[in-house]
Amino acid sequence: MNTKKKALNLCAGLGGNRKNWKNVEVTAVELDPKIAKVYQDLYPHDIVVIGDAMEYLKKHRNEFDFVWFSPPCQKHSRMMKATRHDVADFFDPMLWQAIIFLQHFYKGKWIVENVKPYYEPLIKPTAILGRHYFWSNFDISNIDVPSPKGFITSGSSKESVQSMKDWLGIHYDGNIYYKDNHCPAQVLRNCVHPKLGEHVLKCSESKKIISIKSEQQVIEFN
Ligand SMILES: C[S@@+](CC[C@H](N)C(=O)[O-])C[C@H]1O[C@@H](n2cnc3c(N)ncnc32)[C@H](O)[C@@H]1O
Repeated sequence: MNTKKKALNLCAGLGGNRKNWKNVEVTAVELDPKIAKVYQDLYPHDIVVIGDAMEYLKKHRNEFDFVWFSPPCQKHSRMMKATRHDVADFFDPMLWQAIIFLQHFYKGKWIVENVKPYYEPLIKPTAILGRHYFWSNFDISNIDVPSPKGFITSGSSKESVQSMKDWLGIHYDGNIYYKDNHCPAQVLRNCVHPKLGEHVLKCSESKKIISIKSEQQVIEFN
């Protein structure tokens, strides 16, 4: 009988969060075929689906014991406000859609990960570890998050890319570019450090399920 936990890794990227997971059967969903290809080479035993994470979650969630969801963070990031260039744009609603969907329509353990936003988060996170915000239905204890020593925010040189690969322990040939971003370090910068991904998965193994109490705001219109 197969007793391995079944994990769904949504918006899988290069699977930084997944790298140290052991004894789990992983299905990964990634929209970008170039990134999905590298993911598949890194984790040959995972099932890799090239497609939309939200659609996959809606259809298949009940086939899994655990869901990790890392929606794209660029449109929430403080970098939106930290540049001289006009990058004004609407945030990507996938983050908030994912949290509310999982809160209401998924019975297993789940976690949504993103960066610290430039605005007050619409739903209070369960935990903040390093540069990551987490929303989950289980407690996440604190750990010393491995520090990237400055190269996480800067540098697109060959040396910076190599330092990022070494820091994460994720190696592949050549460069991959995330969407229209010309920086070859961006896909690596998107990664959760493997030790943090491993820690969060361990935390999910506790029996207790918590529910997020979102701070409801009532706005009255005259
Ligand atoms: C923040 S990164 C994921 C990082 C990953 N958790 C890690 O630790 O390495 C987000 C990824 O989501 C992918 N993505 C964006 N929109 C998507 C969608 N609708 N469905 C699936 N993947 C998507 C992007 O191509 C990107 O690789």
